[in-house]
Amino acid sequence: MPEIAFLNSAYMPIEDAKISINDRGFVYGDGVYEVMVAYGGHPFRMHQHLQRLKRSAAEIRLALTSSVEEIERVMMEGIERAGFDDTMVYLQFTRGVAPRKHSFPANTKPTFVATFREKPITSEQTRRDGVNLVTIEDLRWGACFVKSIALLPNVLAYQQAQDSEAFEAILHAADGVVHECSVSNIFFVQDGRIVTPAKTNKNLHGITRRAVLDFANDLDIPTSEEAVQLDAILAADEVFLSGTTFEVLGAVKIDDRNIANGTVGPVTQRVAAHFRLTIEQGRYE
Ligand code: PDD
Repeated sequence: MPEIAFLNSAYMPIEDAKISINDRGFVYGDGVYEVMVAYGGHPFRMHQHLQRLKRSAAEIRLALTSSVEEIERVMMEGIERAGFDDTMVYLQFTRGVAPRKHSFPANTKPTFVATFREKPITSEQTRRDGVNLVTIEDLRWGACFVKSIALLPNVLAYQQAQDSEAFEAILHAADGVVHECSVSNIFFVQDGRIVTPAKTNKNLHGITRRAVLDFANDLDIPTSEEAVQLDAILAADEVFLSGTTFEVLGAVKIDDRNIANGTVGPVTQRVAAHFRLTIEQGRYE
């Protein structure tokens, strides 16, 4: 199956999709995005993603010229055309094409890009064994709840994790307050309770994070959204991550030290299994 793109008004093979070097997304990272997964053609929690896209655009004063309904239609047709079993959908709006000048260009139409790729597979081995994390001070701006394409601090943190043969980087403030990870949200389990950093301007309000809290509720597992210190995560019974591309993933080491007994914990396994069951039962919203 070919990976396909949608660019402004037309679908095409992804390698044929070209943008101007004057696109403000290219020049300034001046744009917003969403990543969704469609399981068997059904996007997971699409409306929550599209509401977040609208909020992100509003926060950067980017007037979307496509309605949510039009974006949804573009998505559904792209998923159909691509024909993957499970599809990773990437949506992006930039402030459009204009000569490089910081101020907003007048009368410039946003650039609308969507790509449709096969959903990346997270192996059962990785899910069983869990992943390693590193801790890095968070260098990002003060509006991390906006899903901006200006991701250089995230990229550098993620690469630093890879350089340490880890999967992800926990991003924390200088005082140890944990915000999230570079491409995912973070949870820990203490005495049977699932805890995650409260939504602030220093983390993305993850759709999968919300789903995990809903699933914990389904499973009668107590949860808490609160200010989280790195020490609490290091001393936790279990740690796991949430994100669209891998759903729920247990962590077993942080900075080369075992979390508890160094294996993926039972609560993490229950939540991950419930996520899978929810998809199998066709509960996508
Ligand atoms: N990343 N935090 C950050 C910084 C993220 O980039 C993401 C998602 C998440 C998880 O949010 P959600 O559950 O809504 O996917 C948290 C996407 C997948 C990406 O950039 O590829």
